[in-house]
This record gives sequence, structure tokens and C-alpha cells, in this order.
Amino acid sequence: MLRPRYPLRTRRLLLRPFEPGDLDGLYAYQSLPDVTRYLTWEPRTREESRLFLRQKMDASTLEREGDWLVAAVVHSGSGELMGEINLGWRSREHRQGEIGYVINPAYHGHGYATEAAAEGLRLGFEEFGLHRVVGRIDARNEASARVLERLGMRREAHLRENEFVKGEWSDEIVYAILRREWDAHRGTTIISGE
Ligand SMILES: CC(C)(COP(=O)(O)OP(=O)(O)OC[C@H]1O[C@@H](n2cnc3c(N)ncnc32)[C@H](O)[C@@H]1OP(=O)(O)O)[C@@H](O)C(=O)NCCC(=O)NCCS
Repeated sequence: MLRPRYPLRTRRLLLRPFEPGDLDGLYAYQSLPDVTRYLTWEPRTREESRLFLRQKMDASTLEREGDWLVAAVVHSGSGELMGEINLGWRSREHRQGEIGYVINPAYHGHGYATEAAAEGLRLGFEEFGLHRVVGRIDARNEASARVLERLGMRREAHLRENEFVKGEWSDEIVYAILRREWDAHRGTTIISGE
């Protein structure tokens, strides 16, 4: 079981559970085709975002295998909601997890996804005791590949047309990192974005 002591702090960010006042910020990025381009879901209406906000508010911990922990990514200076990270509990027996993230395009290119996801990996490995964490991306999602590589994740697999997304077959790339690789990467690299 993982019940983080929120808020989690990184150099520029605060990670906390979603709250009712996040609807505008959540809808701001969930409504954009640029954001959903390589994701399995379509841009959302405000009402759909309201329903998903409720789910996210209820998902700030990992209680059982299959759960996803969702944390809002907030700028610690302005308090602005910039996106979210997701940490999935894929297997209890094999201590496997999965990392995911979304950042509002208004804040892209400043290393925020890398900084937030690094904290997600730290949570998964150091507080939850995972052995291995994967990141699964659409093969065309170069920005996401850069994030995973900056985190020290290895490209392990290229799966040909294993998903039918938005009317077409798409390739998936699987990245992964082991706990001992994470420890070594943290020792040699400052994972903080800018
Ligand atoms: C993937 C995503 C989270 C990256 O957010 P971000 O805060 O801009 O990421 P960072 O700034 O930490 O790093 C992005 C890296 O990708 C590069 N990049 C940004 N946009 C890019 C693009 N369109 N094409 C190629 N590279 C891009 C940046 O220059 C940076 O590379 P660098 O390490 O060489 O400087 C963001 O693009 C996003 O939310 N996309 C939509 C949702 C999504 O696809 N999520 C991932 C699902 S697997």
C-alpha cells in the first residue's frame, strides 16, 4: 500500500491530490487535441472532465494491484495546475509499476514532465519498493520518449501495430528502469529539468 505524504515537493513543483478547484485547469488540457494526439482518449468536454476530476480525486493512493495513483502537478511559485503524473501498480508479486504523465502545452519544454515523473519514480522505488517501472508510449511521441530517456529509462521493445488507436494501427514503445538502475542514475544525474 502506498499513501504518500502530500504535498510532495521537487525543485519547482508541488505534487498533491486533485481537488474540486482543479476543474478549470484539468479541462484546460484535457480538451486539447494536441494533448490527446498519442493517447487512447479523445478531447473531453467540461462535463467529462468533471467526471474524471472526481475519479482523480479518489486516486491519490495505491491500495491494490491494478490501481493508478494520480497526482496533480502544480507550480510551487504560482500554484498553477500544470498537469498530472500517474503511477500504476501493475503487479504485486513481481513488484512492477508503470509511469505516465500529461503536461498542459502552455508549460511544455521546460522540463516539468521530467521533474514530476522523476518524483513519481522516486515514490515507486523508494517509498513503495517497486523492482521495475515501465513507460509505454506511442512510437511517434518523441517528446514523451525524451522524457523517459532523461529519466534514465531503457528502450526495451518496439511493438509493431499492437494498438488500434483513433482509427489506425499504431506502434508502441516500451521503456523500463530497474531499481538498481534508478539508484545509479540518481547518483550521476541531476534530474530536475532546466
Ligand atoms: C510528453 C509531455 C508530457 C512532455 O512534457 P514537457 O514538460 O514538455 O517535457 P520536458 O520539458 O520535461 O521534456 C520534453 C523533451 O521533449 C522535447 N520536446 C518537447 N516537445 C517535443 C516535440 N513536439 N517533439 C519532439 N521533442 C519534443 C523537449 O525539447 C525535451 O527534450 P530535451 O530533453 O532534449 O530538452 C508533453 O508533451 C505532453 O503532455 N504531451 C501530451 C500527453 C502525452 O503524450 N503524455 C505522454 C503519454 S505516454
